[in-house]
Amino acid sequence: MNVIRFSDLCTNGQAAGRRVFIRADLNVPQADDGSITEDTRIRASVPCIQMALAAGAAVMVTSHLGRPVEGQFKPEDSLAPVAKRLGELLGREVPLVSHWVDGVTVAPGQVVLLENCRVNPGEKKNNEQLARKMAALCDIYVNDAFGTAHRAEGTTYGIAQFAPIACAGPLLAAEIDAIGKALANPKRPLVAIVAGSKVSTKLTILKSLSQNVDQLIVGGGIANTFMLAAGLNIGKSLAEPDLVDQAKAVIEAMKARGEKLGDPSIAVPIPTDVVTAKTFSADAVATVKKATEVADDDLILDIGPETAARFAAQLKQAGTIVWNGPVGVFEFAAFENGTQVIAQAIAESSAFSIAGGGDTLAAIAKYGIEQQVGYISTGGGAFLEILEGKTLPAFEILAKRAAG
Ligand code: 3PG
Repeated sequence: MNVIRFSDLCTNGQAAGRRVFIRADLNVPQADDGSITEDTRIRASVPCIQMALAAGAAVMVTSHLGRPVEGQFKPEDSLAPVAKRLGELLGREVPLVSHWVDGVTVAPGQVVLLENCRVNPGEKKNNEQLARKMAALCDIYVNDAFGTAHRAEGTTYGIAQFAPIACAGPLLAAEIDAIGKALANPKRPLVAIVAGSKVSTKLTILKSLSQNVDQLIVGGGIANTFMLAAGLNIGKSLAEPDLVDQAKAVIEAMKARGEKLGDPSIAVPIPTDVVTAKTFSADAVATVKKATEVADDDLILDIGPETAARFAAQLKQAGTIVWNGPVGVFEFAAFENGTQVIAQAIAESSAFSIAGGGDTLAAIAKYGIEQQVGYISTGGGAFLEILEGKTLPAFEILAKRAAG
């Protein structure tokens, strides 16, 4: 996708002395006392801000935090803890500015953080008047908020329509590049792992990926529905029987593509063994069974070791891997083996790998494979919508502006 890159504007001197408005995604988890519990998104936003400062720009940064009610600012909506953390990371004070829509005072070489943009009336519905006012604050608008790229809001879309220049920051650009590398022109075989509790929430993703990937590994409750579609008994396991036909259609679509290409390995591999329990609890007794021997009162809580080894072998031979979702209840030690084996195989594979989504990031952290994953996306919903094959609004408007 062709967009103007902020890094190019900085390199060729176009940002010097200019008012630069950066939309970052600083929406980080907080404890009840407001302290930040996980600061990945703040750290990921630092390079863009440093780039703007080094280029001699007057820098305004904003983000949403949570889902506040517009026009009704509450103390817990404040970006104050973020300003503090950002200041620590940048090694300079970052003043927090409230009521900024009608004007911001900031000099070249300075950075200010503009208070939670979602409190401004009109932000969520992308009100044109608000967007025009925000665009008037800057010479260059930079979208560096991949995590919010699936929202067409005032600071992610409207402002990009009206700002003199609208471009992608380094984080957004890195996400576009990594996703392009994984999905648009992948080194094959391309293996996707899509796991999670419900087929219904990821059906569009499964359908979209079935047109492109060489192996579609399903896990969790999604795999249970696929096992039903393959005629297996899944006992009391979490599944969506109403969607068995849809699961069959995905299996058939992969098979048909494999036949067309003369490659029988193109498929949705169904688990051949599973780990079951009688209750859903951390101390439940785990039993490994063949997928054909699941009892009526069993709950499938993980893939079995034979299946995990088979998937691991496929991942090690892959050219590209896309990972969204743990394949079992990895929070419980007795049911974490499948996810751990998959994580280890991704770490050991020479494939370019991209991973995203909250649970997936938790698994990556648990098994300490951050350095071995090719790209870890900062997007939750945005990452999923990309996998669905959608063009995200933030990219769409930046591409439109780049086209002139
Ligand atoms: C996220 O946490 O996924 C992003 O910051 C987007 O937040 P939202 O779902 O409230 O728009």
